[in-house]
Amino acid sequence: MIPHDPNRPQTDPRRLVFARKERELYQLIAASGYVPDEQNFSDFCESLKSGRAWLISGTRGSGKTAFPEALAEACNLTMCVVAGRDGLTQGEILYDWDREEQEVWMRENLAIAKGLPEGGQVGFLEKARNAKWQRQFLVLGEVGLAYDLAAKGADSAVPPPVLLLDESDKFGASIEDSLLMPLERGLIYIPRYEGGCIGVADWESRPIVITTSNDLRHKLSGPFISRHIYSRFANPTLEKELEILAARNPKASSAQLSLAIKLLDAVRGIAGMEDHPSIRESIDVAAAFVRDSVESLDDYSLTRFFCYFVKTGDARELLGLQIDYLLAMTNGFNPIIDRWLGQRDPQWAKRWDLTV
Ligand SMILES: Nc1ncnc2c1ncn2[C@@H]1O[C@H](COP(=O)(O)OP(=O)(O)OP(=O)(O)O)[C@@H](O)[C@H]1O
Ligand SMILES: [Mg+2]
Repeated sequence: MIPHDPNRPQTDPRRLVFARKERELYQLIAASGYVPDEQNFSDFCESLKSGRAWLISGTRGSGKTAFPEALAEACNLTMCVVAGRDGLTQGEILYDWDREEQEVWMRENLAIAKGLPEGGQVGFLEKARNAKWQRQFLVLGEVGLAYDLAAKGADSAVPPPVLLLDESDKFGASIEDSLLMPLERGLIYIPRYEGGCIGVADWESRPIVITTSNDLRHKLSGPFISRHIYSRFANPTLEKELEILAARNPKASSAQLSLAIKLLDAVRGIAGMEDHPSIRESIDVAAAFVRDSVESLDDYSLTRFFCYFVKTGDARELLGLQIDYLLAMTNGFNPIIDRWLGQRDPQWAKRWDLTV
């Protein structure tokens, strides 16, 4: 669990969307450096209003994990995270009993019982055995914690936590199944527990659950998917990608932004490239240009930066044959990119003779 900062005010994103202040929420997230896609953001608002979890699928590096992180940061919310991997157990994510503490508890009570008059021992021990299943012996996993925090928050008007179920395609069937009840009822039933269950049934008070999937390892089950509002993170438009590059690299000049996005756009357009560079790679390339003060590219410097977005030997060979094309695209005019840059930088508009 990553707790919220107690020295900063918290914002409840659900309250904002119920008050029709979606734009305010959008701006808050954007101010943290994450630029949400409009359609995806609208889907997210629906998930907030409905109380349903939000399932995001999309290629690697498309901003799936970064969205909940940005939300938690922007609204100063506590975040609970389950990172998908093989061998994840229900005990780790939902709850477990602290067996050692329970044993110590019983040993202590047996010792006390021995000192009691015979008539009182049975009743005393029965009480002690029941008390073994009290809250103090319950160890909550990240999912249990998120639902428990949401329940407590509902009582004290504290915003709900964000629960990130990251890379859920690695969870496997049994973990997915164990999440069906909390995702539907908001409750986690715990056998023998004196309270019966933890969590919160009220849809408006539930944790903000964001589930991501790369659709790689396992196919998610129908019931698991059906408990979510669904969005697909597609490749952004060039304008959106420019917005993201500028937000993530605030020190980048127009020339550096232009070089990075034209280069990556050209690479994505090359037939035969199987693994297209994502936003992750374009942000890294722009950052490298800023670090090295690169304002133009030639044969030599271009190949130096291949390592950021060419991830197989075959792709490297293929791109090695396309250097002239890549340089032409990188140095040439692109109406979408150069107009976007020209609108925020008069010098850039002048350079390309653009009337904006
Ligand atoms: N819309 C966006 N605005 C700002 N930054 C973004 C955006 N989308 C992606 N990024 C940045 O791109 C990088 C990759 O994002 P992230 O790690 O969230 O990808 P992912 O979809 O979770 O990938 P993977 O499937 O490999 O885990 C991060 O540095 C993230 O901040
Ligand atoms: Mg991720």
